[in-house]
Amino acid sequence: EINFFFPKQQTLAVIKPDALEKHKEMILEEIHGRGFSVTRLKETVLSREMAEEFYKDHRDKPFFSQLVEFMSRGPCMMLVLTKENAVEEWRAMMGPTDPDQAMVTSPNSMRARFASNILHNSVHGSSNEQHAEEKICLIFGDICTDSELTVDGETDT
Ligand code: TYD
Repeated sequence: EINFFFPKQQTLAVIKPDALEKHKEMILEEIHGRGFSVTRLKETVLSREMAEEFYKDHRDKPFFSQLVEFMSRGPCMMLVLTKENAVEEWRAMMGPTDPDQAMVTSPNSMRARFASNILHNSVHGSSNEQHAEEKICLIFGDICTDSELTVDGETDT
C-alpha cells in the first residue's frame, strides 16, 4: 500500500536520561505501536562536547549549561524512526516542551506523562527534516545506506 501524500521520512528520537531510567519499555512499545520502524538504535552516554554540539542552536540561552549537564549525565537511547510523516508524528507524540503545558493541551503525550519539568522533559525529536538529517549524522556518524541491516530486520530505503 502506497501513501502518496506522505513519503517515508526519518527523524531522530532521543529518550533522555531521566526517562531512560524509568520509561524505556513503555516508550519503545508506543513507538512500535504507532507503526514506526526503528531503523537505527543505540544507547550511549553523550560527552559534554557532543551534548553541546547537539544543542548548539541553544548555546546563547540561559538554560544551555543545565541542558548540557543533564543530557550528558547518563545514558540516552538514540533512535532513527522511519515512517510517513515521521518528523511531525513523533513531535505530536512527544507533546509540547513544557510538561505543564503538555498536561493541558495533550495529556496523552510522552511529556505530559513522563516529564518532570521543562528541562527534564523525557524525550527529544527533530523539528524538521534538515535537523533530522544533521542530528542523525552527528549521532550515528553517517547517513543510512540502502543496504544497511536495521534493528527491525528490515532494510532502510
Ligand atoms: P527546544 O528546542 O525549545 O524544545 P524541544 O525539545 O521541544 O524541541 O529546547 C530544547 C531543550 O532545551 C528542551 O527539550 C528542554 C530545554 N529547555 C529548557 O530547559 N528550558 C526552556 O525554557 C526551554 C525552552 C528548553
